[in-house]
Amino acid sequence: MKLCMIGTGYVGLVSGVCFADLGNDVVCVDKDIFKINKLKKGIIPIYEPGLSELVKKNYKSGRLSFTTNLSEAIKNSQVIFICVGTPTKKNSNAADLSQVFYVAKEIGKFIKSFKIIVTKSTVPVTTGDKIEKILLKNAKRKNFSVISNPEFLREGDAINDFFFPDRIVIGTSDKRTNKLMHSLYAPLLSKGAKYVNSSRRGAELIKYASNAFLATKITFINELANLSEKIGVNIEDISIGMGLDKRIGGRFLRAGPAYGGSCFPKDTRAIVDTAKEFKTDLSIIKNVIKSNENRSKILLNRVSKLLKNKIKNKRITFLGVTFKANTDDMRESSSLVMIPSLISKGAKIKYYDPSGYKKDFDKFKNISFSENIKSACIDADMIIIHTEWNDFKALNFKKLSSKKNVIVYDMRNILSPDKMKKDKINYFGIGR
Ligand code: UDX
Repeated sequence: MKLCMIGTGYVGLVSGVCFADLGNDVVCVDKDIFKINKLKKGIIPIYEPGLSELVKKNYKSGRLSFTTNLSEAIKNSQVIFICVGTPTKKNSNAADLSQVFYVAKEIGKFIKSFKIIVTKSTVPVTTGDKIEKILLKNAKRKNFSVISNPEFLREGDAINDFFFPDRIVIGTSDKRTNKLMHSLYAPLLSKGAKYVNSSRRGAELIKYASNAFLATKITFINELANLSEKIGVNIEDISIGMGLDKRIGGRFLRAGPAYGGSCFPKDTRAIVDTAKEFKTDLSIIKNVIKSNENRSKILLNRVSKLLKNKIKNKRITFLGVTFKANTDDMRESSSLVMIPSLISKGAKIKYYDPSGYKKDFDKFKNISFSENIKSACIDADMIIIHTEWNDFKALNFKKLSSKKNVIVYDMRNILSPDKMKKDKINYFGIGR
């Protein structure tokens, strides 16, 4: 099939190259000429394991192309995916849909033959209705259908999540459209993915509800971790003991710092905002947002306690600053809250992250990026494991720090307390 992906970010680029790898002809459109030119040279703007090889392979095969020419791309495609950004509006919980509506207007100008317009970006419930209205205003006749087909790609695992999805959610009641989408996704359905057909609004809500539920699950275990520390149990036992119940499931049930990323924080706020529009109170999700926003403060209190409330001039090292492992994404990472707070209390910060230097910290004093773990840790009073990169899972802390009573605060519980005890390391985890 001939597909057009509008927007070449995490969603558009990954979905586009994977659709191409399935044998479709895919054109990826972006208004950013520099980004398009880099993509043509195989330079990928996002850190996603395996993506650059896949782009190069499919670009070379001719199935994948890049352009800034939106009208051409629309005219030549049968299915048009809207994959532009839907960030949270400033000083509000609502999603900013200006890019989505701009693209919808543009699409309306160039529809000649029957087209399927798909919102793949995460968009608030009823956005499809609004896109349809815009198209009807601009297009001569209704020879299109507007559907919702949300993605469930995790950063760092996006390619795997595309090729092995649990389900393909398609929000439309149009038979012809369903048939076409069914054949587009046939290679994945034949490998076991379920085809879930709902109304358009239903599919939009499935996406938000899924992310909000995952955020709730994480916050649930994070709060139980607070309790576990007080009653002296190991939260990892609770996660395992609960997770083996098939009705609960063990994934997204690991305690850590506040959840971050470009989705959970944005999507939980957006679904609460949508509910408010429909005069419905989503009290649980509201409390999840509040609890997560408060989490960094709880972990910082513990840092302070472990340093006997003497933070001034203390040397604190962060191993990992991204919001999770296998990505370079810093969006809403809890390190962006914790590090500035420690600096304001007089701490001297070093950090190392396998994905490299972060300009997010440029505006702060008393912080430096270390090129390797050794130089990051050598003179630390406290080493904080903030992100669960594999690089940190088998470190020998006895050799890493010159200070014999260095404190290791493992915010991801990736180290073994028994081994730390055997090595006589001052080790503290989360919820244990
Ligand atoms: C998420 C959804 O998983 C994905 O389906 C959706 O399409 C986009 O948003 P992503 O934001 O890339 O994906 O990351 P994810 O792996 O979901 O982690 C989100 C946050 O939750 C991270 O900060 C992560 O560290 C945290 N997390 C995850 C936990 O704290 N504990 C867990 O057990 C799992």
